[in-house]
Amino acid sequence: MREQLEQIGVQATEALKDVMDMEKLNDIRLEYLGKKGKLTGVLRGMGKLSSEERPVIGQLANEIRDQLEQLLTEKTEQLSAEKINQQLAAEKIDITLPGKKDLLGQEHPLNLVLREMEHIFVGMGFEVIEGPEIELDYYNFEALNIPADHPARDTQDTFYVTDNILLRTQTSPVQIRTMEKQKPPIRMISPGRVFRSDQPDATHSPMFHQVEGLLIDKTVSFSDLKGILIAFVEQMFGKGRGVRFRPHHFPFTEPSAEVDIACLKCGGEGCRICSGTGWLEILGAGMVHPRVLEMANIDPKEYSGFAFGMGVERIAMLKYGIDDIRLFFENDVRFLSQF
Ligand code: DAH
Repeated sequence: MREQLEQIGVQATEALKDVMDMEKLNDIRLEYLGKKGKLTGVLRGMGKLSSEERPVIGQLANEIRDQLEQLLTEKTEQLSAEKINQQLAAEKIDITLPGKKDLLGQEHPLNLVLREMEHIFVGMGFEVIEGPEIELDYYNFEALNIPADHPARDTQDTFYVTDNILLRTQTSPVQIRTMEKQKPPIRMISPGRVFRSDQPDATHSPMFHQVEGLLIDKTVSFSDLKGILIAFVEQMFGKGRGVRFRPHHFPFTEPSAEVDIACLKCGGEGCRICSGTGWLEILGAGMVHPRVLEMANIDPKEYSGFAFGMGVERIAMLKYGIDDIRLFFENDVRFLSQF
């Protein structure tokens, strides 16, 4: 009987070694320790033993049962720990993986410059008024004293929609629209997109932006125009920046001028940026032509005024030292993120 017990102990221990799952473990528990189990079977036969043998075998049987129970408990713990570990491994999240960064957008350099321009003129009492990008020939040319046969039309290669509808080539038509609607005094600027069928290169783009300005009142003179534009240049490019008014011609102003600022690179010495002249052209301006006032139903004997127009890209390029206008529209974030 002793041998039988010992053999059961060895067998059960051996069987437990290879167990990989709970089900198998329960089978083994039943096989050895269950009511009909092997160990229980042996113990049932103890009645046949002598009174000397009984306590000895009884003790041995208890030891083996304890031993088996302990092994079963250990194995149970081991298996459930393994199960938990497997579950954890399957559900593991790799927190060392770099996260996805959401990039913050920022204002386009053209918008930055445009807002700065608006801020400066609004600060001098100008109102911001917008006009249509698809425009009548009448407002874009005719009412600005550029009749159909006028050579100035050649310098503004126009996208026509029909014979008398076009994409505006300048923001000047908003002058006329404003004068038709408002009685003087008028003090307005008009920012917006303009279009010309130019071949794109470093200084040309078929779409670009202008800011138009118009001031109409009694007794407005050329020196008012100079004062306003010099104040603008100082705020935009810094105090003390040289400014010069150079005689020019525009059909809708008389007299007319182009305005230059001292070269931002060489300060007037002459360099590659200013083509050796020491000056950079930034805008066109002049006293509103009497015929333009008349066409907009404003009496030139009672009122006078000045107008100016500037390219936003041109000013932004000078201000930030950008040498290719196409950079504004390619939208490469490496460029855009620098402003
Ligand atoms: N419209 C002109 C252009 O596109 C710019 C301009 C010049 C506007 C003189 C004006 C002005 O109002 O007075 O070239």
